[in-house]
Amino acid sequence: MAASDSTVTNKSWFLKEYPKGLPQESLFELRESQLSTKLDEGSDDVLVKVLYLSLDPYMRGRMKAGGSGYAQGFSLAKPLVGGAVGVVVSSANSKFKEGDFVLGSLGWELFTLVPKGQGLRPIDPKGLPLSYFLGVLGMTGLTAYCGLFDIGDPKEGETVYVSAASGAVGQIVGQLAKIKGAHVVGSAGSAEKVELLKNTFKYDEAFNYKDEPDLSAALKKYCPKGIDVYFENVGGSMLEAVLQNANTHARIPVCGMISQYNLEEGEGIHGLIQLIAKRIKMQGFLVGDYMTSPLAKSFPDDVSKWLKEGKIKYVEDVSEGLESAPQAFIGLLQGHNVGKLVVHVADDERAPKAKQEE
Ligand SMILES: NC(=O)c1ccc[n+]([C@@H]2O[C@H](COP(=O)([O-])OP(=O)(O)OC[C@H]3O[C@@H](n4cnc5c(N)ncnc54)[C@H](OP(=O)(O)O)[C@@H]3O)[C@@H](O)[C@H]2O)c1
Repeated sequence: MAASDSTVTNKSWFLKEYPKGLPQESLFELRESQLSTKLDEGSDDVLVKVLYLSLDPYMRGRMKAGGSGYAQGFSLAKPLVGGAVGVVVSSANSKFKEGDFVLGSLGWELFTLVPKGQGLRPIDPKGLPLSYFLGVLGMTGLTAYCGLFDIGDPKEGETVYVSAASGAVGQIVGQLAKIKGAHVVGSAGSAEKVELLKNTFKYDEAFNYKDEPDLSAALKKYCPKGIDVYFENVGGSMLEAVLQNANTHARIPVCGMISQYNLEEGEGIHGLIQLIAKRIKMQGFLVGDYMTSPLAKSFPDDVSKWLKEGKIKYVEDVSEGLESAPQAFIGLLQGHNVGKLVVHVADDERAPKAKQEE
């Protein structure tokens, strides 16, 4: 890999043009470049070797010139970027030294030069796989924790329904709701995912929404007491069916609407009048809003403890190699991932080994 003692060969994924509809692999291009590992003293820059990349649905919104309204559009002139963990290769920054594990916004590439170390945070893995800091102990875990506890606020015995329930956010939401004593129902898009929901994540009920011609009838069947909290991940016809089956004073944390992300124009929603009739609280949120909140403070200790106690199981879908990133991302938008999707880019011999929950 090293081109000389002081340069490395980098490979970076670029987007050639913004996709329309489902992105195609031909729109992505892997480019090679040489990168110096010698950093200017006083620059405060940090060179990071990327180990794991997080692939997330919101990135589809960034594949538009104007972005998604809450996330800036990707530049076509720069490598694609996202949440990632890596190891410091060289540093001109007193806060980081060679060999430190770090979390930050890194490129879809082998190495990222981070100007002034901006946004980098050191990680102490404490024996846990580094990739967990992109999921259950990272952005998607925090999303589940804050959205459910702040907006959903489930009470013992209430019915909590989660869509995209086996995914990165969904799997954590369901298990947190179980910890709070709720009756938890989830839907997902394959028989394998439904098995996972029932047997690994211990959802009380789970169904494959693709097998259900009438979603409202399905929810009536699987949530016979009605829905008190709906953790919204998908939008569209699922939201319409939930509005029909929601109880009075139901809460709907609106986390995402993945069914809309590839559409040029979003669909409308029928039945919003139920918000009035049933006094439903429906609130959108961004995980970024919670970064300095008390919930963000209690999150790492709570979730690490529940992981250790086995109250939370965590399933990842690891795509091998930087080359696989575009295909894995396109698969995410089609439901091919089973669990939290990460790309394994490189190893570091000091990193705790990844493991899968049974
Ligand atoms: N608000 C925030 O701050 C925030 C932060 C993180 C994530 N999110 C949102 O949370 C949601 C889940 O994200 P995630 O990272 O956990 O992803 P994920 O659930 O791990 O993966 C996406 C899943 O969405 C489902 N899906 C894809 N296309 C769909 C469609 N047309 N209709 C219904 N389901 C579809 C697929 O599962 P099935 O096989 O089950 O269909 C797919 O596996 C997304 O909407 C995302 O944008 C929001």
